[in-house]
Amino acid sequence: MESEIMRVDKYISSQLNGVSRKDAKALCRKGEVLVNGIVVKNSDVKIIAGKDIVTVQGENVDYKKYVYIMLNKPQGYVCSTCDGKSPTVMELVPPELFREGLFPAGRLDKDTEGFVLLTNDGELAHKMLSPKSHIEKKYYVELQKPVEQFYISEFEKGMEIDGGDVCLPARIEFVPQNEYACYVYISEGMYHQIKRMFQKLSNKVAFLKRVKMGNLEINPNLGIGECLELLHKDVEKIL
Ligand code: URA
Repeated sequence: MESEIMRVDKYISSQLNGVSRKDAKALCRKGEVLVNGIVVKNSDVKIIAGKDIVTVQGENVDYKKYVYIMLNKPQGYVCSTCDGKSPTVMELVPPELFREGLFPAGRLDKDTEGFVLLTNDGELAHKMLSPKSHIEKKYYVELQKPVEQFYISEFEKGMEIDGGDVCLPARIEFVPQNEYACYVYISEGMYHQIKRMFQKLSNKVAFLKRVKMGNLEINPNLGIGECLELLHKDVEKIL
């Protein structure tokens, strides 16, 4: 594992949920913090994260540099770290998964549901969000009017939508037994893209949910508004 030098109070607050820097300093003062078995009362002490063994109240604090969270976003939340008006997806992260520097890697509209990845791994988020990455995202869509056969070729040839934006070729898949529903696969993320694509076809999106990014599907057991911690190897399926 990659090592990083940091103050012991910073290490503790970054690795233990619900423990602030102030709490970590207090734990040190009380003699409840050990580094490699030795009591450390001075929270200025530097440790090598990933190498030194930090113990708080008798429990080892393992080093996890990055956290990756699959969120099943509900409608009504914005994909941002702060917003003056609306609740943000950050409010849905349970304290035990919260980390400094966590943010949503990508955006869904406020009224869109589904898979959002939250992480504090800037490099991974950058790779995911780069316009060159072309990661395929799958959405479940319900429309106001029935899905039409000609949508397939329209999507395939790369549609020009309002504002003159030209979409990369996209795919549409019908849902058996429901003529108002379909799955759409797009490899980019322009503003309101799917809504604008159907608008161009004189239809309107009534419900939108992201269900897959790359090769990683949303966990079917994850309730709306719930979070699930992912392993790095799971996240690699997105890229
Ligand atoms: N397309 C949209 O129109 N909205 C989303 O939230 C995602 C894709």
